Amino acid sequence: MRILTLAALLASLLVPAVDAAEPILIRFSHVTSDKSPKGQGALMFKRLAEERLAGKVRVEIYPRSQKFDDDQAPLALLFGDIEMAAPSLSKFRTFSKQMQVFDLPFLFSSTAALHRFQQGSVGQSLLDSMNSSGLKGLAYWDNGPRVISARRAIRQPTEVKRLVFRIEPSSVFQDQYARLGAVAIAMPFSRLPDAMKEGLISAQENAWSNIRSLQVHKFHNHFTELGHSYLGYMVITSETFWNGLPAEIRTQLEAILKEVTEKVNALAAEQARSARQEVQQAGVNIIELSEAERQAWQEALSPVWKRFEGEIGAEVISAARASN
Ligand code: LMR
Repeated sequence: MRILTLAALLASLLVPAVDAAEPILIRFSHVTSDKSPKGQGALMFKRLAEERLAGKVRVEIYPRSQKFDDDQAPLALLFGDIEMAAPSLSKFRTFSKQMQVFDLPFLFSSTAALHRFQQGSVGQSLLDSMNSSGLKGLAYWDNGPRVISARRAIRQPTEVKRLVFRIEPSSVFQDQYARLGAVAIAMPFSRLPDAMKEGLISAQENAWSNIRSLQVHKFHNHFTELGHSYLGYMVITSETFWNGLPAEIRTQLEAILKEVTEKVNALAAEQARSARQEVQQAGVNIIELSEAERQAWQEALSPVWKRFEGEIGAEVISAARASN
């Protein structure tokens, strides 16, 4: 009798903390709106996961930095406060210096070239470059080329002097603007509306869909289509969470993410056009650069590559260049 009681006690201690009948909860935190390419991607992921894994998986989406800003998301994943996030590629330098390759000015000649790099062996290895920190990259998602907005017209690199830029927390962007004599302040996306409203910044860079959703054109009248880098994302999770999933669920989620990625990228291209058009209809000045003007920017910013080559790795940069 006493042996039986002991066995029952041991068995109760071995029962997993989570009731096996409960669906696995995936909390997906991000910083943009539900309508953005990333927001739509997260919602699509939820719909497909809950349809195809009905009763097994439940997905909760937290857009607009409701739960965490991008700088907090990686730690939140590691502590198990969320299970998925999709910060921009510029926000991973603390975890992987190689990821800074995506920030180098004028590296990729087109979205197709960016995709070739991401899908190639080096791009795929970057998805695993944060494994040692416990993070796991699952997919790349697009937004679009970065456009500069400012309170005055900018055509030449010399014209950004003394402007105060909001940038993403990227050492490459910091260096880029410092070289041109501008002040660059890194701040979370959620602070950008107030920074514009309060007049703390006089310029910023972002993709058209974010410019539209934050109504940047209410504060800045001039938009320079520089396209010096692409705003894109890495969908991430924690190694512990992902590897702890039952294999068949993990496989299905990976297949769903693949499907969603294609849709997000198509939507991102479509939103880059529609958002640009909407902003233009607000009567702002959109500056398209000539080849010679673009060349002047490329020359002014080429030392940035040299400065970061050691951290990123020459082989990573040359793989990226080879994708053009
Ligand atoms: C930003 O911080 O400007 C962007 O990374 C926001 C986003 O997720 O698109």
